[in-house]
Amino acid sequence: ALYPLLATIAAYLMGSLSFAVIVSRAMGLSDPRTYGSKNPGATNVLRSGSKAAAVTTLLLDAVKGWLPVALVLWFGKPYGMEEGTAALVGLAAFLGHLWPVFFRFVGGKGVATALGVLVGFSPWLGLATAATWLIIAVFFRYSSLASLVSAAFAPVYYLLAGGVLWYSETPIAVAIVVMAMLLAWRHRENIQRLIAGTESKLGQGKAKKA
Ligand code: G3P
Repeated sequence: ALYPLLATIAAYLMGSLSFAVIVSRAMGLSDPRTYGSKNPGATNVLRSGSKAAAVTTLLLDAVKGWLPVALVLWFGKPYGMEEGTAALVGLAAFLGHLWPVFFRFVGGKGVATALGVLVGFSPWLGLATAATWLIIAVFFRYSSLASLVSAAFAPVYYLLAGGVLWYSETPIAVAIVVMAMLLAWRHRENIQRLIAGTESKLGQGKAKKA
């Protein structure tokens, strides 16, 4: 079990790259942990006013979830790594984003990274979940609500479509459910703001407080 262990550690380290902080620093923007929701994520980087920085953050945070899963599924077999390890490394990248070793374990909410992991598990699953996010975001203009609804739907998509559109594997199903639960828990302040009607909407430009 040496290769799966090494792959899991590598995925956790990749997940620990908090791209909201790294990209903001590289582009000379303020640290996303100091404004808006204080969350190091693409949504909050958008509140800096830089769409380029937000899109770059979104892409890189997603890639760091997708890449370890894809690498395991593409090249893992000769090393004894299959779906179980893919589930493990996906979860490890996600956990790295939430609790990054390089940033005093203060990370983000995992939306972009979870999406990347889902694309790695199955492009159709990723696409369906991303489409869900987009539809809710367009209609309700809340990034957090879109994230919560997509997180609730992702396991449903995987389990419902399992055996029809794509195979369904227990470790992957478990990883998806665990990610969805942690993601929802990380949004607990957003949930309170949504209920109170004080959550900041997308496309409001710079926000003093989210
Ligand atoms: O990316 C996380 C998103 O769902 C909410 O982000 O900054 O509004 O808490 P934020």
